[in-house]
Amino acid sequence: MNLDFSQIVPYIPFMLEGIWVTLQFVIIAIIFGFILGSVIALIKIGKTGWLRWMADFYTSIFRGTPLILQLLLIYYAIPQLTGYDISPFLSAILTFGLNSSAYVSEIIRAGIQAVDKGQREAAEALGIPYRPMMLKIILPQAMKNILPALMNEFITLTKESAIVSVISYLDLMRRAQVVSSQIYRNFEPLLFVGIIYYIMVMLLTLLGKYVEKRMRQSD
Ligand code: ARG
Repeated sequence: MNLDFSQIVPYIPFMLEGIWVTLQFVIIAIIFGFILGSVIALIKIGKTGWLRWMADFYTSIFRGTPLILQLLLIYYAIPQLTGYDISPFLSAILTFGLNSSAYVSEIIRAGIQAVDKGQREAAEALGIPYRPMMLKIILPQAMKNILPALMNEFITLTKESAIVSVISYLDLMRRAQVVSSQIYRNFEPLLFVGIIYYIMVMLLTLLGKYVEKRMRQSD
């Protein structure tokens, strides 16, 4: 077997720096995607027909095309149209945020609509106005469906983040490729960052389990 881990030792700090680079844009994209996704979800359960149509169309575009294509479009095609260059960092946040918002909007919409119709009817029969009904009755129940699915979305986003390596953004994945080209070995650097991704995902999974447990306790 041809393995020599000693060769990656000098590059370990360089690869570890990639953790923060990856986390940085993933965290911003998650927040951006969550805010935008919530707004789109509210539009979807709202009453305005043409807005609902636009929200559905938006979702179908972002879920119906590969994420890597969206990334390349934003990084290469927008500068071609506008004449302004866009940094890999901004492209990554935009692409992942917009893409995630499409998924998040469906998670929130489905979570809200899964709450039994009777809850809303009872609130309406009692004359409770829309806002307090949503905030105090529907959303707390919807949270039980929404939170676990949201955690899954964050895990997906963390793993998918590796595709930003194609626009030369120096994330974890890209750093492994850079090291490979320096030491003429692929296995060791890939295995190294693979373990880091795995640890990041396991930590998020633990967090998800914890959140779910808390939700069950509150039942
Ligand atoms: N590989 C999938 C694609 O290219 C990932 C989509 C992103 N998924 C997500 N939940 N944000 O379409």
